[in-house]
Amino acid sequence: MKQDMIVILDLGSTENTVIAREIRDLGVYSEIHPHDITVDELKALNNVKGIILNGGENRVVDGVAVDVNPAIYECGYPVIAIDHPTAKCDTNLDKLPDIEFLKSFLFDTCKAEANWNMKNFIEDQVELIRKQVGDKKVLLALSGGVDSSVVAALLLKAIGDQLVCVHVNHGLMRKNESENVVEVFRNQLNANLIYVDATDRFLDKLAGVADPEQKRKIIGAEFIRVFEEEARKLEGIDFLGQGTIYPDIIESGTKTAKVVKSHHNVGGLPEDLQFALVEPLLQLFKDEVRACGVELGLPAEMVYRQPFPGPGLGVRCLGAITRDRLEALRESDAILREEFAKAGLDKKVWQYFTVVPDFKAVGVRNHERSMGYMVVIRAVNTIDAMTASIERLDYDFLEKVVARITEEVTSVSRVCYELTPKPVATIEFE
Ligand code: XMP
Repeated sequence: MKQDMIVILDLGSTENTVIAREIRDLGVYSEIHPHDITVDELKALNNVKGIILNGGENRVVDGVAVDVNPAIYECGYPVIAIDHPTAKCDTNLDKLPDIEFLKSFLFDTCKAEANWNMKNFIEDQVELIRKQVGDKKVLLALSGGVDSSVVAALLLKAIGDQLVCVHVNHGLMRKNESENVVEVFRNQLNANLIYVDATDRFLDKLAGVADPEQKRKIIGAEFIRVFEEEARKLEGIDFLGQGTIYPDIIESGTKTAKVVKSHHNVGGLPEDLQFALVEPLLQLFKDEVRACGVELGLPAEMVYRQPFPGPGLGVRCLGAITRDRLEALRESDAILREEFAKAGLDKKVWQYFTVVPDFKAVGVRNHERSMGYMVVIRAVNTIDAMTASIERLDYDFLEKVVARITEEVTSVSRVCYELTPKPVATIEFE
C-alpha cells in the first residue's frame, strides 16, 4: 500500500466505520484496528499518518475498562480522542468530529496526502496479487454477485489465465443471470470459466423440502459439493480467490464490538482441499467495491445490481420448490425488474423482487374458472438491511406490472403488493 493511512483504534464505538468512511471520502485511506495494538504492529502498517481513538458504549467490556496501550502516545503520530478524554492526546472531542475538523486533522496536523482512489488501489492490488500468486493458479467461485465479479475482474487483470473461475448455476438464479456471467467473463473478458449447470441436482435435493432453514442448508451444502468436485478435477491450484470485503471482517466481531455476523464465503471445503486465500477486496466498503468494478470496466448492471440472497430464488419460491412455480417466479421477477428499469426505479429502490407462495388461487382465464399462482411484489428501502421501509409505488405503475405478469405468465391468477415494513416483517419471506 502506497497510500497514507489514518488508524482508528476501536474502543467499542459503533461509529468506527462511519468515521473510516468519512476519512476515505476525503481521499485518505483509513483502517480500524483493535485498541490493544502494539507499537510494533502499528509501525508495521504502511504510511500511518495519524491516530484516532474512538471510545463508545462498549468502552467497558464485561466489567473491565478497555484502554489503548500507553506507548501509543509516544510513537510520534498525532493522536485525537473522541468520547474518553485523555490528557495525552493532541485533541479531545466529546462528539464525532465534523468534516472541517477532520479535514484540518488529516491535512494540516497529519500532513496526509489525499491519494486514496480506485486507480491507485487497483495498481497496488495488481502488484500484491502478482507477488503473492507468482506463477501459480487461483480458483474462484464466481456467483455473478458484485463482490465475486469484482474479484474476478481484478484477478484477471493481475494474473490473466492463471485464474480459473467456476460458475455454479444452482437453478435458482434469476432470468438470464448465468448466461450474463458467461457472456461477460468468458466471451468479453476471455476468462477461464468453467460453467456448471447443476439445476437438476439442486432441484432433486430440494424436492419436497418445505422448511426454509433446511432449504438454505441443502443449497449451501450442495454448492460446496459441486464446487469441490470441480476443484478436484483441476490440477496445480494453490490459491482460492474470495470476495471478502471490509464490513465482513468488521461485522465478524472485534475485541470490543459485540456485533457478530458470521463471515460468509466458500468455507466448508474438505481438509485435503485447503488453499491459501487471495482476498484483494479485504480493505473495501461496498460502494468502493462497486467503484473498483466500474474502474475495471465491468458492466453497470453487474456492479450496481441489487442484493440477491445466496440461496437465490429458492427462498422466494415459498415452501417446497416445484419447477412450474419456480418458472412463474423467475418470469414475474424478470418482468418486475424490466419495468423498474424502464421507470428509472432501479436506481432509486434498494431491493425489489417477486415471491410465489405455495398455493393456488381461483381466477378466470378464457371465460373459464382456472386455478393459478399468486405473485407477491416486494419493494423496500433500507440502509443496512436491519430495518426497511416500503417503497410507495405508483398505482399506474403497479397496474402495468400486474397486467404484464398476468398476461405473460399464464400460470398466475393474482398479483399482490406487500406493504409490511421490517420489522415486523423481514425483507425476504423465508
Ligand atoms: P431479511 O430477510 O433478513 O434480509 O430481512 C436482509 C437482507 O439479507 C438478504 N438475505 C440473504 N442473503 N443469504 C444471503 O446471502 C441468505 O440466506 C439471505 N437471507 C436474506 C436479503 O435479501 C436482504 O437483502
